[in-house]
Amino acid sequence: MSNALEIPGHLTRVPGNGGLLKTKVETPWSHAEIYLHGAHVTHFQKLGEPPLLFMSAASQFTEGSPIRGGVPIIFPWFGPRDGFPAHGYARTSTWQLTETHLLPSGAVTLRFSLPSTDALHVEFLVTVAETLHMELSVTNHSTVATQVETCLHSYFQISDIAAISITGLEDVSFTDQVASLTHQESLPIHISSEVDRVYTDTRATVDILDPGFKRTVRIEKSGSDSTIVWNPWIEKSKRMADFGDDEYPHMVCVESGNVAGNAVTLGPGEKAVLGVRVSSF
Ligand code: BG6
Repeated sequence: MSNALEIPGHLTRVPGNGGLLKTKVETPWSHAEIYLHGAHVTHFQKLGEPPLLFMSAASQFTEGSPIRGGVPIIFPWFGPRDGFPAHGYARTSTWQLTETHLLPSGAVTLRFSLPSTDALHVEFLVTVAETLHMELSVTNHSTVATQVETCLHSYFQISDIAAISITGLEDVSFTDQVASLTHQESLPIHISSEVDRVYTDTRATVDILDPGFKRTVRIEKSGSDSTIVWNPWIEKSKRMADFGDDEYPHMVCVESGNVAGNAVTLGPGEKAVLGVRVSSF
C-alpha cells in the first residue's frame, strides 16, 4: 500500500471492511472515510453530532458489489439496464486516489480518478471540512457526442422516518416509480410508505428537518437538474439482501444528479461537473 498520499494527523490509508482500502480523514470539524471501491464516501460526521451519512450494517464490502449506504456514485446510467449492472459501473469499480491536500483552512481534499478504457475521463473531488463537498466531473475526450446520467446517491442518517420532513421540492414535477405516474405536491414530504421519486428540472436546495436529532441537514447542489428521494420501507427492505429489515426508519436517500430527461449530452471536449454540498445546523 503506498502511503505517499498520506497527510500525518489528517489523512491515513488503512484496510477497511472486507480488506478493501479506505482513507480516513480528520479535520478540526469532522471525520470522514472514503473507500477506493467506488470512491465511496461511507462516513462523514461532524464532531459532537450523529453521523450525517447512513451506512447499512448489512452492507457487503466485496469487489463487484456496491456498498449499501454513504454516497454511491451513479454513472454512466441511473437505474436498471438490461444485461448491465443497475446504476452503472462506477460504484463497483476500484478508483485511483491521485491527489490529497491539506488546505490552510484545515480542510482536506482528495481527488479520485476512475480508470477507464473509453474516452470519458471521470474524476471525483471530495473536500472534508465543516461541510462535505463532493464534485463529480466527466470529460468527453472522444470525437463524438455522448450522453450520460450522473448521480450522487447520498444516504442520510435520520432519527426516525416518521418524524422528519423534507423541504425544497414543493411544486416540482416527479415520476413516482412506485405508482408509475407523474405527479407534484405542494407540501413538504412526509414519508409513511415506500417512496421512490425522480424529481426533474429542479436545482433546489433540499433540507431534511430532523427534530429527533435536533438538526437540519442541507443538500445544496450545482450542475444538477434532478433529485431523487428514496426509502424502501418494509417489503422492499426484506427483499434487499444487503440491507437490514429494520433499518428503513433510520435512513432516507436524497440523491442529486442528472437522470432521465435531464441526462447530460457531452460534445467532443466538453465537461460536466456535478457538485453537492452537505451541511447541518
Ligand atoms: C434509487 C432508485 O436511486 O436507488 C430505486 O430510485 C432503487 O429505484 C434504489 O431501488 C437502490 O438501488 P440499488 O441498485 O442500490 O439497490
